Amino acid sequence: MRICRRGDALVVEAPAKLNLFLEVLGRRADGFHDLETVMVAISLRDTLALRPAPAGVRRLTQRLALATQTLSPPPPCDETNLVLRAARLLAQATGCEQGVEIELIKRIPWQAGLGGGSSDAAAALWGLNRLWGLGLTTAQLHPLAAQLGSDLNFFIEQTPLAVCRGRGEAVEARPLQRRLDLVVAQPAGGLSTAAVFRNWKPDGDPRSAGELLRWLADGRCSVPPLTYNALQRPALEMHAGVERLCDGLAAQGAAAVTLTGSGSACFGLCRSSRQAQVIARKIRLESHCPAWAVHAAL
Ligand code: C5P
Repeated sequence: MRICRRGDALVVEAPAKLNLFLEVLGRRADGFHDLETVMVAISLRDTLALRPAPAGVRRLTQRLALATQTLSPPPPCDETNLVLRAARLLAQATGCEQGVEIELIKRIPWQAGLGGGSSDAAAALWGLNRLWGLGLTTAQLHPLAAQLGSDLNFFIEQTPLAVCRGRGEAVEARPLQRRLDLVVAQPAGGLSTAAVFRNWKPDGDPRSAGELLRWLADGRCSVPPLTYNALQRPALEMHAGVERLCDGLAAQGAAAVTLTGSGSACFGLCRSSRQAQVIARKIRLESHCPAWAVHAAL
């Protein structure tokens, strides 16, 4: 997350995430699933501009970047929006009565498994803590983030790479010692996280993220990384476009092609930013899907 002042606004850049590894360890009594997942922040970002407003006013406006204008309608800007829920929760938790006008530029597609809504809400918590002069520490923001969703804590931690456990909210920052160039693409139509988790079935012994984490922590290690997502099979069953897109990315030369989160976006590793740009352009032209050349970055 990056924060800067622009006039009276505090501008926060909210990165998307990719799940380089995601194992589902089991279903829990509360309806959630226990996970072990390796998350990386990437250079595809939404932007939030936070401006002071009269007491009690919390308003959100949204602008869609070109690549997201053809997608299904985004979440509405009403009180159900996760960004406004984050603002309300922070105000309630601290007794703060100050208001805010939030302008959100959406570049990260939704229902994609890229964590865009979670990152926007985490950016709202982080930025409003600063704008309203509340002085909460990261440790104090974490429990608020966990109340809003399972992916927010990764973004609150402000780390490019982490292993996340529990339902995703227990974040352990990890070192990232290599440049990661990737191509990300989304087939037409998103997927509901709850529906994909419902469609998941246990499948043998849990896999380990150990080899992937060693590869990420050691820039000299040449063993090809093992990406994995236990939600890929249930997502493929629900959306044929995911498989076609994965095949398309692999055919263009992307390596370790995998679903991110509960989909429907997929990613592949590239040798260079140039290769990522070439593959993204081909996917846009030939598969008519939005595609982005990105790298790992906060
Ligand atoms: O936490 P979040 O609001 O992102 O989760 C959306 C839905 O995805 C949950 O209501 C739940 O059905 C499912 N989920 C799950 N296990 C997780 C995370 C999410 O079953 N670890």
